[in-house]
Amino acid sequence: MAYALEDEFGDIIGKAKRGQGLSHSQVAGRAGITEAQLSQMENYTLKPTEDQVYKIADVLNLDGPKLLDIAMERWVPEPVQPGYDEALEVVTVSAKVGDYPVNAYLLICKQTNEAAIIDTAANPDVILRKVREIGVKPTVILLTHAHGDHANGLPELEKATGCPTYIHENEPKPRSTQQFRLLKHGDEVSIGKLKVKVLDTPGHTPGGCSFHTRSTVIVGDAIFAGSVGGANISYTDEISSVGDHVLSLPDDVKIFPGHGPATTVGEEKAHNPFF
Ligand SMILES: [Fe+2]
Repeated sequence: MAYALEDEFGDIIGKAKRGQGLSHSQVAGRAGITEAQLSQMENYTLKPTEDQVYKIADVLNLDGPKLLDIAMERWVPEPVQPGYDEALEVVTVSAKVGDYPVNAYLLICKQTNEAAIIDTAANPDVILRKVREIGVKPTVILLTHAHGDHANGLPELEKATGCPTYIHENEPKPRSTQQFRLLKHGDEVSIGKLKVKVLDTPGHTPGGCSFHTRSTVIVGDAIFAGSVGGANISYTDEISSVGDHVLSLPDDVKIFPGHGPATTVGEEKAHNPFF
């Protein structure tokens, strides 16, 4: 499918189903469809009717109209334009882990040209090449979480940049050459003149966190445009922490996820069926 979102209808209902501990047969039964139909909808061989989307949304505690827009491929977020903030720049570094695209980011203080490397995209070479290409000076490495597609290659990045690495205190620790600097909700890390605040966004992982400064938040796999990361640890924590800490930010705040396109708080409040 050419639809630009990280997750589409089938991914969304699968995540909501697993997250809430509902069985395939429970969801199908309560939504008035067969298990085979539900499977076909999840793997995109059957397009649901409007009525079926609303019933499934109801069973899964998802927002019906928002889910319908995604099922009918009627919504994608407006592209985030570079230069939206005079004090900073966010450069997306896209790489592939196997066939699976992943985003790391450079968060740059325009005044000092200092930068944070946020996640590794499991591809230190691509990141280091981008750092050289745009001529910024990395001062810290920040990890949203420790999954391999976000944290592999950390030792190489540390050796090449000499930067300290920050990770949430509750997160499992990936391979590293140094002692981590540990973060908790509300902590601040300086990048040049920027003050970056740590927001707890666990649920996908135990100590997943997001990094917020001015009108920018980098969220790892806590929330995607129109979806959320798989709730491996706690669906309730994931939904409530993203709702409380990310979607409570002003509507014009730009959200940069670990997979898929950038979005905004306003777009997600209006279109993300999990909220
Ligand atoms: Fe992840």
